[in-house]
Parts: sequence; C-alpha cells; structure tokens
Amino acid sequence: MANAKFKKLFEPARLAGMTLKNHLVSAPMLMNYATDDGFVTPRLVGFYDALARGGVGLIIAEGSCVEAPRGKVRGFQMFFDDDKFIPGLRELVSTVKQHDVKIAIQLMHSGSNSEFRISHMEKVGPSNVIVPGKPPVRELTIPELKSLAQKFAQAAERAKRAGFDGVEIHGGHSYLIAPFMSSATNKRTDIYGGSLENRARFLMEIYHAVRESVGKAFPVWCRINGKEFGTENGVTIEESQAVAVMLEKAGADAIVLSCGGTGKYAGYSSAVMYDPPGNLVHLAEAVKQRVKMPVIAVGKLTVELAEKVLQEGKADLVAMGRSLLADLDLPRKAAEGRLDEIRPCIWCRVCGDVYLQDKDAPVRCQVNATLGYEKERVLRPAVAKRRILVVGGGPAGMEAARVAAERGHEVMLYERKSNLGGQMAIAAMVPPKTAALREYGEYLERQLRRLGVRINLGTEVTPILVQSVKPDAVILATGLSPAFPNIPGLDSSSAFTVEAAFDDKSKLGESVVILGGGMIGCDVADYLSDKGKKITVLEGSSGVVADLGGRVISRVSHRLREKGVSVKTGARCFLVKGRDITFLDSGNQTQTISADSIVIATEYKPNRDLCDSISRLVPDTHLIGDCVRPAWILEAVEDGFRIAREV
Ligand SMILES: Cc1cc2nc3c(=O)[nH]c(=O)nc-3n(C[C@H](O)[C@H](O)[C@H](O)COP(=O)(O)O)c2cc1C
Ligand code: SF4
Repeated sequence: MANAKFKKLFEPARLAGMTLKNHLVSAPMLMNYATDDGFVTPRLVGFYDALARGGVGLIIAEGSCVEAPRGKVRGFQMFFDDDKFIPGLRELVSTVKQHDVKIAIQLMHSGSNSEFRISHMEKVGPSNVIVPGKPPVRELTIPELKSLAQKFAQAAERAKRAGFDGVEIHGGHSYLIAPFMSSATNKRTDIYGGSLENRARFLMEIYHAVRESVGKAFPVWCRINGKEFGTENGVTIEESQAVAVMLEKAGADAIVLSCGGTGKYAGYSSAVMYDPPGNLVHLAEAVKQRVKMPVIAVGKLTVELAEKVLQEGKADLVAMGRSLLADLDLPRKAAEGRLDEIRPCIWCRVCGDVYLQDKDAPVRCQVNATLGYEKERVLRPAVAKRRILVVGGGPAGMEAARVAAERGHEVMLYERKSNLGGQMAIAAMVPPKTAALREYGEYLERQLRRLGVRINLGTEVTPILVQSVKPDAVILATGLSPAFPNIPGLDSSSAFTVEAAFDDKSKLGESVVILGGGMIGCDVADYLSDKGKKITVLEGSSGVVADLGGRVISRVSHRLREKGVSVKTGARCFLVKGRDITFLDSGNQTQTISADSIVIATEYKPNRDLCDSISRLVPDTHLIGDCVRPAWILEAVEDGFRIAREV
C-alpha cells in the first residue's frame, strides 16, 4: 500500500508498543448488531470483518457495556460484564486479525445518558439532577464509584483474554465518566467534585483499576471531551490539556479528543453538513502541545484532511467514523490511488440518529446499502448479460444503474432533466449541503461512466422509446412531482413548488409562508432566509424535521431560529384569501398571517404514469425510490441496490 499523496497516512505507525500498518484508525461506533443480551452475532462479525478487510490500521471497536443492564445505551450492544461473552468476542477478534489489523475495544457505561426503555434502571451520575418531566439522575455513592471502577477493570481483563490488542476507556460525550469532569454537571462537594483534580478523580481511578487488571504492557488509553461546546461551565480545552497530562503521568498510552456539546452544539461530536470538516482537530492539536503520548484526532475527517493533519503534526493518528461506514474499503481505495471510487459520507447523521428514535434499530447508512449486510448483500456477476433500462437519474436510479452495470449488465439510464441527481440535486441547493450532496452525486455519476452505463440526459422516456431500446428489464425510478394540497384559495398565482422556490428567477415575494416543516420545507426556509426573505414555516406535526433524528432536529431548529425564521408547529392551514393564510394553531385557535408567496413543501405525487404502458411492453418492470413512496436517500439507495441485484 503506497500512495505518494497520502504518504504519512499509509506509513506504519507506532502505538503503545504495537506497530500498526498505517495511521488510520476506525473510531468506535456502536452498531447495535449484537444480541439484546450482549452477545456477538454473525452480523457484528461480518461488519468488523469487512471493516478490517478495508485496510484500516487499528479498529477501536464500539462502545461496549461494562455493567448490564444499567450501563446499556443501546438495545443491541456488546456486554463485557461476564466471562460467558468471551467465546463470541474471541471469534470477532480472530476474524479481524486475519487481515493484519489491530483491534481494541471501547469500554463504556451509559451513566446519566441511559434510557429507562433500554436499561430498565435509574439514571446515575455525579450529582442528583431533577428536571421536571425528565427521569431524575441519582448521585452515585463513593462505594458505588469504587465498584464501577472495578467493573471497568474486570471488563478490560476480559478484553485482554478475548485477544483484543488494547482497551479504550470512554471518558467522553455525556456517558458515565464525562459528567464527572464537567463543572456544569458535577456539583459534588466530596473528593469527586470541585477542583479539576477531584473532578478527574473518577476517570483516574478507573484508569488505575484497568491498568492494574491488565498489566503495564497492555495498551490502555482514554477518549475524553477536549471541550464542551455551548455549555456554561463546561469542560475547557485547558482543563482537558491538564487531564491529558494526568493520564500521561499515570501511564496511559494515548488519548482521543472528542467533545461534548449542548444547545446548537448537540451532537457536535458527530458533526453534520452544517459543521466544518475536521471540526475537532484543534482539540487534538492543543492537547498534543502538552503531552508526548500519541494523540488521536477524530471528527469529520476525509482522507485528504487526515493526511494534512498528520503532515502538519496536529495529531499522531487519525480516526474516522462515518467515512468508513459510507465506504468500508476507503483505506484500500485511497492507498491504491482509487480516490474516484470512494463513496463519500454526506454527513447526514442518519446512521447516528435513526436509532435515537428507535434505539433498537441497527445502524444503517444512507449511501451504503451493504452496511450491516456485508455477508448477505454481496454482488455476484449476472448469470446472463441483460439489457437494462433505468428511467430516472436520482439516487435510486443511479444506484440501480451502478449495481446492474457492476454485475455485468448492459445498462442505459435516461433522465428527463438536463442533470442527474433528482430531488437530491434540489436539496444540494442549500449551501451547507451543497458540497456533500454534489460530491455524492458526482461519485455516482463517475461510477456510471467508469462502468460504461450509457447516460441520456434531457430525454423523456416513452413507450416508443422503450420499444426501440428493447430492454430485457426496466427499472422505473421516476421520482415524484409536487402537488397542490386541497386548500380553498390556494392557486398557482401565489403558490410555488419547492423547485421553483430554489429558482432565483421565480417571482417569489419578500414574505413567504412555507407549508410543511419536514426536511425539505426547512431546507427551503434556510435557503430563502439567506436571500433576505421573511419566512414563516407552518408545520402540522409537533416539531420540524420530525422525520429525522433528535440531534438533527435540534440543529435545524437552532439554525432556523438564528436566521429569524418563524416556525409554527401544530399548524394546519385551511384557507388562503389573497395574501391571507388562515390556519388552526396547536391550540385549535384560528390564526391568519399575511405573505406575498406560499411554498408547498407538503404534498407530492409519485410519477407512475409510465408504469402500466411499460410493464405491458416489458413484463420485467420494477418501480423503486420516490415513485413507490416518498423516500429518504437511504430507502432510494436500498431500493436501487436490491432490485439491481435481482435483475
Ligand atoms: C453510528 C455511530 C455510533 C457511534 N458510537 C460511538 C461509540 O460507541 N463510542 C464513541 O465514543 N463514539 C461513538 N460515535 C462517535 C464516533 O466515534 C466519532 O467520534 C464521530 O462520529 C466523529 O467521527 P466522524 O466524523 O469521522 O464520524 C459514534 C458515531 C456514530 C455515527
Ligand atoms: S448515514 Fe449519513 S452520516 Fe452516516 S455514514 Fe452514511 S452518509 Fe455518513
């Protein structure tokens, strides 16, 4: 593996006496693929096998529970609190090690971040916290803290026996340990509260207990919050520098700098499209100035940025999370110079947030339909080469064309518009999303061209065209079209589609009401408020972007608030008269607001007109993506992948 562009990244690295084949680390990501009682599953092994095969130097496997059920954070998390888990863990480790990769395990406890429906137990933390409407957090006693430190120690010793190459103690985010370190959450007056030394005491005791159980030679390090963003009295960078020094003196082998965050920084540890690339590198850089042990940077890193961070000496190793979920083969492709083939992460956080709504859902990736199905969704060459016609160039159509071509079929793709991308190209109009969505669209287009798919833009598919092409199978990914809701007085003179709202040539007035506060409506609000328009969003449900996960909701809400967008939830519009828009508010009271224009972001109808006529001509015709039901990129890509595996 040698590529001049990524010289440093793919050089062998040293960590705690280990030689890693490169400087690229896979960050811990709880995949929710274990059994509900903490055992390793074939799905988990399949995922780590593929991750290891992809070429990372070190895998820090996902946050695993040292005390179940109280310390559980997800429904299907690995447990380390009993020897009965060791045989499964051994199988996981030995599978990974076939690929010349080192593997460590992250040990964690949910602490005050647990949820009753997952742990079925009370929340525990440094101090009693009672917030009306929320489950209370109970202050842990000193004997309980000593016992918890032992639980980490026993778990670490089990990890060593199972064959792991090291352990990472999860002292970051908002799980058991981090709230002890923060003056914002630690109100104790005993030896675990007050000064930084006291606040860091619990982490240090856990570290010492772990070290004692595994011995001096076994690699042990910690992940901590380099800073708590947006939190009054939160951890500062100076404090985390001091904690890093304490850990180094105590013999820790490395440190990983993640972060905490509240308010508009909720979820900043897994930054989204709105956040800058490498958003946490400065934390690693600051800590590196104070310690000699290896410092690991993490947070929205791409291969190019990772190389730069290493070249500039800002960190000793670089960890990636979601870029690897999007493409487990990223390291190998980068090392071989096949950058064009790397499927980029779009920083949507669906992998992290989907299961915030449903904590029992396994992690999935919007752009990678094989994630979590590494053994099942293997692409096999087509038994017989067929002629496949794909209609529609959005993510569903492009993925279908890519996979069908990859399998050896002759594929042609027709798109009515002059560009590929479908709805995704419209979403890419919103500046913070532009780079990521365009990059993903361009990736798909590059694959189609590489695989010889014939792309026909600006061409409407008709039955006559189908007869002339004579396909063996047709995949219809014709998407959806905007529709006007049935509201008296709403007509096309003042109402605009989402697409028209993004078109600067449209005659949109200065004040705009957007009907619908899903992701699309919020994107339009974001875009138009930047153009200086006065925006009101009317959303029928109780919150905006209710279709997405908790932390994305919070980010979008803050963003709109900062831009001065007025959001009315629980609002059902029922009458439009001239400039007046009348709706029932969340308390069932009638309200009227005035606006120059209305944008409809609620109603869509699937484009299925071609289906009947084409399936009469070509019985092997399939519908996928938005034209089946309004779909996220996730479902569109899954549909495209699935159908193209079958045709
Ligand atoms: C699906 C998912 C699961 C995660 N699980 C963990 C975890 O178990 N422990 C942890 O410390 N961080 C966890 N993280 C955070 C990542 O380790 C990483 O710090 C973060 O995603 C930023 O890196 P990235 O921008 O390269 O994804 C998780 C992130 C994601 C997306
Ligand atoms: S779901 Fe989104 S954020 Fe997560 S890895 Fe996939 S593309 Fe990236």
